[in-house]
Amino acid sequence: MFNTDTITRFQQLETPFYYYDMGVLRQTLTACSDASAKYGFHVHYAMKANFNPKVLDMIQSFGFGADCVSGNEVKAAVEHGFGKEKTVFAGVGKSDKEINLALDADIFCFNVESVQELEIINDLAKAKNKTANVAIRINPNVDAHTHHYITTGLEENKFGINTWQLEDVVGALRSCSNLQFLGIHFHIGSQITDLEVYKSLCIRINEIQDWFEDHHFKVKVLNAGGGLGVDYHCPDANAISDFESYFKVFHDFLHVKPGQEVHFELGRALVAQSASLVSRVLYVKNGMKKNFLVLDAGMTELIRPMLYQAYHLIENLSQKPENLSLKSEVGGQGETENIDSIFKTQNVELKYDVVGPICESTDCFQKDVELAQSYRGDLIAVRTAGAYGEVMASGYNLRDRVACFYSE
Ligand code: LLP
Repeated sequence: MFNTDTITRFQQLETPFYYYDMGVLRQTLTACSDASAKYGFHVHYAMKANFNPKVLDMIQSFGFGADCVSGNEVKAAVEHGFGKEKTVFAGVGKSDKEINLALDADIFCFNVESVQELEIINDLAKAKNKTANVAIRINPNVDAHTHHYITTGLEENKFGINTWQLEDVVGALRSCSNLQFLGIHFHIGSQITDLEVYKSLCIRINEIQDWFEDHHFKVKVLNAGGGLGVDYHCPDANAISDFESYFKVFHDFLHVKPGQEVHFELGRALVAQSASLVSRVLYVKNGMKKNFLVLDAGMTELIRPMLYQAYHLIENLSQKPENLSLKSEVGGQGETENIDSIFKTQNVELKYDVVGPICESTDCFQKDVELAQSYRGDLIAVRTAGAYGEVMASGYNLRDRVACFYSE
């Protein structure tokens, strides 16, 4: 991801910023597109993972659909050319305004999360003399074995409709004349790395689609959601998720009936490895018990470590042997070059708590990170930050909006 030309360019730039490697993004999208096409599966990009305009444009150019969770995401999908016939609108709390916007845009499908929501969409569609396509988001009670903050498919979660409520759902569907039932939708969580979990999901989907067919509802669309994980520990060795094996599980275990379509909503696996958060060391604080690297980026730029205890690989780009000489060419805020080269030859590694500048104790990217001895001005990369990174940035402490740079 970072060759010496890239680092030289970084040296000229104000930090912090997100750096997007468009080549990695392209390779990832190609891999996903090829693997899904093999089985005729449809992939909607879960825009919540990253709605950076350049990212959206590239994803759209591969022909993926869009999975949106707000009216503004629906708007962005339309503006970026995703195509209304490939746009779905999900979310547990769609406002009337957002539903109306999606009705006006004639999107492909609403993924509906409660009986009351079904009735509201029906009323709003009736007022416009339209019919809304709906898929029922069902909570399959399958444990995703991921962090509890990003698990969604258990009965205790707020998402979806529990199976014991399905009688009410078919009752509502029968009485809502401005709704067209399209199929069933599931999403059990995010950053799922154990593919066995998806096998369990397939088994539940098969049971539930049979239930609907037994109740005389033709299930045209099976939407398995997203959630495929990425390798946060080895972003270079393992840059692309195993799309082949992922789709194969569904091919092998889902009972796909003639004329049925299988849909997915992948977010993280498409974009996570394509970006890093690049920051500079502002201060090195050497304590009795701890050394701190205080960066100019914090939870306002990337909140995942603070919110989910998420691991992201942290690298000191300036202290990589191949980049040490670059430092003297471009200067920056670094300390004496001589000390750098002494440490380089001695290969000194220290443990640092890598923290941000925000006035919160939780503003720590990671504790006890082993890094080469680091200095004020060193460039630090927080890897695998393309999903739920830039889009979850905030203006807390009245911070500047984080900048973005792109590879060619
Ligand atoms: N479909 C639905 C209904 C979803 O709720 C989500 C993500 C996706 C698809 C896409 O999931 P993915 O393929 O990206 O795992 N901010 C958290 C992740 C929240 C995921 C929310 N839903 C994080 O940074 O880990």
